[in-house]
Amino acid sequence: MRRRRSFQFDVKNTVLEWFKELVGSPPYLGIDLGSLNIRMYLEDRGIVLREKVYVVKNVKNNEFVVAGDEAYDMLGKTPPNLTVFSPIERGRVSDFDGVLFLLQKSVGKALEPYYKNQLLQRFNVLFSIPMGLTEVEEMAVVEVGKKAGAREVHLVETPIAAGFGLRAPVLENTGTFVVDIGGGTTEISLISLGGVVLYKVLKVGGRDFNSALSNYLRLRYGLLIGEKTAEEIKLGIGSVTETSNDLLEISGRSLETGMPKSISVKKKLLFEPLYPHFGQILDMVREAVEETPPELIKDINNKGIILSGMSANFLDLDEYLSRELKLPIETSSEPEYNVIRGLGFLIEHPSILSRVAIKFAKY
Ligand SMILES: Nc1ncnc2c1ncn2[C@@H]1O[C@H](COP(=O)(O)OP(=O)(O)OP(=O)(O)O)[C@@H](O)[C@H]1O
Ligand SMILES: [Mg+2]
Repeated sequence: MRRRRSFQFDVKNTVLEWFKELVGSPPYLGIDLGSLNIRMYLEDRGIVLREKVYVVKNVKNNEFVVAGDEAYDMLGKTPPNLTVFSPIERGRVSDFDGVLFLLQKSVGKALEPYYKNQLLQRFNVLFSIPMGLTEVEEMAVVEVGKKAGAREVHLVETPIAAGFGLRAPVLENTGTFVVDIGGGTTEISLISLGGVVLYKVLKVGGRDFNSALSNYLRLRYGLLIGEKTAEEIKLGIGSVTETSNDLLEISGRSLETGMPKSISVKKKLLFEPLYPHFGQILDMVREAVEETPPELIKDINNKGIILSGMSANFLDLDEYLSRELKLPIETSSEPEYNVIRGLGFLIEHPSILSRVAIKFAKY
């Protein structure tokens, strides 16, 4: 008898929950769709997902089969009928269907623990988008969001989101200078009074550091390595300003014989191929500082430049840039989460969101 009552109670609760989900306004998902990582923030819950922006496609029937981290794990190991790639190229949607497949999978994963009934998985989306997109490229993001099932799609510029994520005075009459070094781009921006005063986008990111390392090892040591090995080497070389003679053991394939080959290289030498890219970033930051309006230049002098993005995790990159630019540079804690934290802040503060969102689409 008692068991029956609790069963009835459960059914009542579940129906009530469904009813609430059905009539209440759909929750917001903040989505930072980067060139390498996708991050999601769910309203009232926090950051609920981070995974790789990779998909696996069967080239025989053109169907996507796997997405996210699982797809990244298959990189370099697939048979010829499967291809693994990132459907976002330097912040832009380069393969619409690939992004759609990834979004559908990721949104499902993000909502599933909270909204058990798939039919009731209604949601709105706030995307961060890089600076410099054309209107067509912006619309591709809106479209992919809608097709993935979002009721409403809003867009906000990445530097604005990063600024809020950093708890910087974005809306105030003061300049905040942010350099976001991601996987496919480096975005340099100056924010003031809720807008982006100036920006520069450089097509250089962590992925280019990996390619530079691969090329260097091929040309200098006749060693062929895959994308994932290059990533591991990069994460293992330590500090940008390091002068130690520590060795790093690297395994790959000999260019000459085609057989497995291992070499030991001084870690400090592995920075050689990266410096041209660091130099490009440095030049672009310098250019942006030179173009900063006089009224805001004093803010850079006082507050310095904030590094953001996951590639800002390079040890001592801030010290290196500071020495070269003769300006204070600071790396925020967990720089890879600034943008998604900012999207979360905006979702939880709709009145501020309505002031800074750049697009609003409903259907
Ligand atoms: N400890 C680390 N040191 C240096 N680089 C790192 C470290 N950890 C991760 N990275 C690099 O950060 C890059 C990913 O950065 P992030 O996730 O910010 O990019 P994204 O937002 O996906 O891309 P983008 O903003 O360029 O479109 C990868 O190339 C990765 O190798
Ligand atoms: Mg990014």
